Amino acid sequence: MLNFKVNEERCIRCGKCITDCPPMCISMQEGDFPVIQDENRCLRCQHCLAVCPTGAISILDLDPDNSIELKYELPTAHSMETLIKGRRSVRKYKKKALETKTITKLLETAWHAPTGTNAQAVLFTATTTAEATEELRKEIYSKLGKLLTDSDFDENDMRFKYLQMAYGAYTNHDVDVILRGAPHILIASAPKTIPLPKEDCIIALTTFDLLAQSMGVGTLWDGMLKWCVDDFFPELAHKLGVPEDHEIGYSMVFGHPSIQYRRTVQRAATEMNLVNRF
Ligand SMILES: Cc1cc2nc3c(=O)[nH]c(=O)nc-3n(C[C@H](O)[C@H](O)[C@H](O)COP(=O)(O)O)c2cc1C
Repeated sequence: MLNFKVNEERCIRCGKCITDCPPMCISMQEGDFPVIQDENRCLRCQHCLAVCPTGAISILDLDPDNSIELKYELPTAHSMETLIKGRRSVRKYKKKALETKTITKLLETAWHAPTGTNAQAVLFTATTTAEATEELRKEIYSKLGKLLTDSDFDENDMRFKYLQMAYGAYTNHDVDVILRGAPHILIASAPKTIPLPKEDCIIALTTFDLLAQSMGVGTLWDGMLKWCVDDFFPELAHKLGVPEDHEIGYSMVFGHPSIQYRRTVQRAATEMNLVNRF
């Protein structure tokens, strides 16, 4: 049940909810208020609630007055540019964990990222204590030691070259190249059965990345962790609570950075293919 409701005192019958509805399932008879005839077509995207200029629409039992007003709250283009250009891959972390409420706030907000067909099925799996991450770290390197000595691995598989290097750094120099000594890991996964599990996870993590860095939390996209928990030791992902029927989209580490970047980097010229006639 969608519980699509129109506050008749607020509704000005402007029709914006009708024209913006992606599956075009809202209609209005002359002199009447908007209705949804076929609930099955609704994507549950809440565009009707979001676009209504008077806050007259409620759907899924949601009160439009509980939404954030956009007029005053958007960051400027300049602050977004600084964030996008100024975010850095952080490879040095303080040991101290973030407060759990900071982590849940970050995840709750990042979970608002768009998903294909509005599936909203991404699962964030995060360690919330430095101790849990430390246990995971130990298990990863212990399993890696066995993998590298036991396996007949393909010399040309670059994953092994990197993991061999990481294992050497950990055992010989106590340097953790895989998790970079971070106090938290984050895995985004989604059911294999939804239309776009991989894409949904990557978009959710990208959103998390930018939001975290806007709050001074360091992040790193972590391909080596992904190889470990997805390709070589999936039992670790399951032990962390990633369901067996999920596809792992990607993984990251995060925490308080113990390094500070002072300015943006300067990338090469953007590759743009601007088409003005077709
Ligand atoms: C998909 C992806 C996987 C990555 N995996 C790793 C990794 O395993 N270890 C690491 O140190 N950095 C990793 N990085 C970080 C990149 O090396 C980094 O983004 C790049 O060097 C640019 O630096 P910047 O993010 O500070 O701009 C990864 C980045 C991406 C996007």
